[in-house]
Amino acid sequence: MQFQNITLSYGERTILRDITLTIAPGEFVFLIGASGSWKTSFIRSILWAKKLKKWKILDDNWINIALFTPKELLKYRRWLWTIFQDFKLLPRKTVKENVAFAMEVCGYGRDEITRRVPEVLAKVGLLAKKEKFIETLSGGEVQRTCIARALIHDPSIIIGDEPTGNLDRNNANEIMSLLEELHQNGKTIIMATHDEHIVNTMKKRVIAFADGNIISDTWEGTYCL
Ligand SMILES: Nc1ncnc2c1ncn2[C@@H]1O[C@H](COP(=O)(O)OP(=O)(O)OP(=O)(O)O)[C@@H](O)[C@H]1O
Ligand SMILES: [Mg+2]
Repeated sequence: MQFQNITLSYGERTILRDITLTIAPGEFVFLIGASGSWKTSFIRSILWAKKLKKWKILDDNWINIALFTPKELLKYRRWLWTIFQDFKLLPRKTVKENVAFAMEVCGYGRDEITRRVPEVLAKVGLLAKKEKFIETLSGGEVQRTCIARALIHDPSIIIGDEPTGNLDRNNANEIMSLLEELHQNGKTIIMATHDEHIVNTMKKRVIAFADGNIISDTWEGTYCL
């Protein structure tokens, strides 16, 4: 996957300047940068194709997501999936209902929902807690529910925007083990984070941005701005 000549501006202010970035299938990449620099904007742009002046993404062929029809955009968003720091789950519904609801909204049939929900809950280790209400879960369990919801489409790429941002160390580590496991199973993981500890212990590719440019791109990198 190659992002080419990404330029992103809000009014006069340029957040990203002609960024070209290649991420190979199956990579695990941390995106780091000062607060308010670019990370969330970049992820939103990938998802929604908004606000970009120039944009290209390479899969097998060049595709310009800004030109996607709604149907193509839907398919594209299932190919990649984003998990956010704020969870966006329905608090008064159970774990199982939240995942099932996401599938209903996406137009899956009853049988497939019945079959698939326990499958994805097992993958994130939440099968035993499937009847629990979201508001009674720990932060880590809530985030695991989000990951379960992300897995319903079996996406090739999982993008996290500070998925551990609201979690304590134990819960954050638990989420990182889960992401590592998904990575071992072939998923591409791209994760924006401020968590120095996570970046330094996991030793993955680290891409740092400042002033609209990539300032470093290191294999087995550390948190260094
Ligand atoms: N819709 C918008 N219109 C104008 N400016 C915006 C808009 N969204 C974000 N910005 C600005 O763009 C800059 C980048 O914001 P963004 O949320 O992408 O940063 P971030 O790196 O994700 O920060 P954090 O680490 O705090 O989450 C900020 O200065 C922000 O104020
Ligand atoms: Mg952000």
